[in-house]
Amino acid sequence: MKRAAAERAVADVQDGMMVGLGTGTTAELAVEALARRLSERLRIVAVPTSERTRALAERLGVPLAPAGDWPCLDLVIDGADQVERGSLDLIKGLGGALLREKIVASAARRMIVIVDDSKIVDRLGGRSPLPVEIVAFGWRRTFERLADLGLQPRLRLASAQPFLSDGGNHIVDCHIGEIADARALEATLSGIVGVVETGLFLGLASTVVVGHSTGIEVMQR
Ligand code: A5P
Repeated sequence: MKRAAAERAVADVQDGMMVGLGTGTTAELAVEALARRLSERLRIVAVPTSERTRALAERLGVPLAPAGDWPCLDLVIDGADQVERGSLDLIKGLGGALLREKIVASAARRMIVIVDDSKIVDRLGGRSPLPVEIVAFGWRRTFERLADLGLQPRLRLASAQPFLSDGGNHIVDCHIGEIADARALEATLSGIVGVVETGLFLGLASTVVVGHSTGIEVMQR
């Protein structure tokens, strides 16, 4: 299902495009599909959203842009942890790359999200936590602010140590249940000193390609 969605998204990549490459198992299938298309003389330049994706793209020979030297992109293809039916708002960041993913999505003219149908929800939140990236310096203070808001934060760990993002930040997973007003929550979180970025991707996805066991569904915003 993921592979079919990835291949459908990569079919939209055209010659000469600058393309953002997402992070996660589904996005990696898209990088592989894109690399296969390079042998059809497709010329593109790509911007990876994580060091993990950068390593894969380099290994597959996908040409990469310098880390920060691009004003805008034509397209980004990325996975998601949740997609809200109708609005196509997203939760992202379980893979730990939400900051670079959000910078790239915000810079792209079009964002194609690729998921299997387990990721589609009627309302964001619920069984999936909301990842929030926070500065490592003074993380306990920022964590307590999130706890005071009733967001039930848990510091993400890796090998019993605080997880470090590619930017050297920590991630707090907020177990808040269904989110009644995602825009209000985004505004509240963005106002907290020490919060770098949230995993709410609101109004960014233009297209969602959903892999079902019976085939592909394309949702447009
Ligand atoms: C990475 O930070 C996330 O936003 C991923 O896009 C998300 O976790 C989806 O990953 P999978 O495709 O592996 O489910």
